Amino acid sequence: MKIMVIGSGGREHTLVWKIKKDDRETELFAVPGNGGIYEIAECIPAKTNHSEHIADLAIKNNINLTVVGPELPLAEGISDIFQQKGLKIFGPIKKAAKLEASKSFAKEFMKNNKIPTADFEITDSYDKGIQILERRVFPCVIKYDGLAAGKGVMVANNFDEAIDFLEKIYRDKIFGDKSNKVIIEDCLDGREISYLIFTDTVDFLPMVPAKDYKRVFDNDKGPNTGGMGCYSPPSLFNQELEKLIQKNIVFPTIKGLQKENIDYRGVLYFGLMITKKGPYVLEYNVRFGDPETQVILPRMESNLIEIMEAVTEQSLKKCSIRWSKMKSLCVILASAGYPGKYETDKEIKGLKEIENLDVILFHAGTKRENGKILTAGGRVLSITAMGNTFPEARDKVYKAADIIDFEGKHYRKDIGLE
Ligand SMILES: Nc1ncnc2c1ncn2[C@@H]1O[C@H](COP(=O)(O)OP(=O)(O)O)[C@@H](O)[C@H]1O
Ligand SMILES: [Mg+2]
Repeated sequence: MKIMVIGSGGREHTLVWKIKKDDRETELFAVPGNGGIYEIAECIPAKTNHSEHIADLAIKNNINLTVVGPELPLAEGISDIFQQKGLKIFGPIKKAAKLEASKSFAKEFMKNNKIPTADFEITDSYDKGIQILERRVFPCVIKYDGLAAGKGVMVANNFDEAIDFLEKIYRDKIFGDKSNKVIIEDCLDGREISYLIFTDTVDFLPMVPAKDYKRVFDNDKGPNTGGMGCYSPPSLFNQELEKLIQKNIVFPTIKGLQKENIDYRGVLYFGLMITKKGPYVLEYNVRFGDPETQVILPRMESNLIEIMEAVTEQSLKKCSIRWSKMKSLCVILASAGYPGKYETDKEIKGLKEIENLDVILFHAGTKRENGKILTAGGRVLSITAMGNTFPEARDKVYKAADIIDFEGKHYRKDIGLE
């Protein structure tokens, strides 16, 4: 069997690692991959949003199944192109990917299907935005409609902050003008968790939940990032809460997809706020999370390839899923300056020294050059460890995080501490 994974981050390295673990015989390809994926897959340099070209690569290399990591190719319709060419792909088509690519579409979908989410209004202009703000209470949350790489949301504490953000969107066009919509919604109070499922629109299989850390510094200080660490399961999670999430959120979502004729095949990620009044949906993502994947897949005991194939064939009903009871935790090592402008091309040392520690190293922004591994991105490496307890997993991860070295390395020291 030949499988191709699209993407170049820690999430994609984890996918490739898990596929190889499930079936040693699988021949793996990655577009474009990174310095770590290189060890287990043939890396093909290509832009992840050149869908036609990637489909040609799949045909040329006789790929049986393609797995899409990031949201951008999905939003641009890579799965539609693959399906038109009769190629098997894991990831939703463009119409379904809109649940992530357009927050206004997602909010309307939730409203139509009575899925708990913050009360909201939508504007399509600066002036209308001001009118809405005049009748809202603060703090409120302002969200750009389109994909914004994690920078499109602002919690506004007062009217002035809110106007400032609206000006950046409508006057300065900091996110371009793919969409002219902005959502203004109530600010919810509670704790966030990530809940992911596999679904083929008929049935679903839940994954174990995770909690990620978005801010760059300890104690949730500093600007937002793509994610600096993660652990699974979150401490507030229990069976009762899971039942509630499935009953109030997952089932109504699947029913909504069916009712609205949205053929969804892939991973559906619920960004949840657990409030006093129960779980609310902050957003949908239409793919695996990064770094959630780095703590979820190491706990997965079932065969990922079988489940992904069943999803693409809409036969998920015949599958079941098993998870390890172990705790898992990961920490991201980032480049100097990240999440702002960062440096690259620093040699990474200590990779040999951690080989016999009980950790799994996933590469993100790395590349190979003349037999050396160099930094090539903001988030460079992610280190995962499992343990019977979180302190045990933490000890393992931080021992490795100390040993690995590159100029400007920084990471959070408080992952897994509540
Ligand atoms: N209604 C809300 N109430 C409180 N916090 C929110 C709300 N919506 C979003 N947030 C905060 O903003 C972050 C980003 O929002 P989200 O909708 O997940 O967008 P994205 O991940 O695309 O940036 C969330 O993780 C959460 O911390
Ligand atoms: Mg989010």
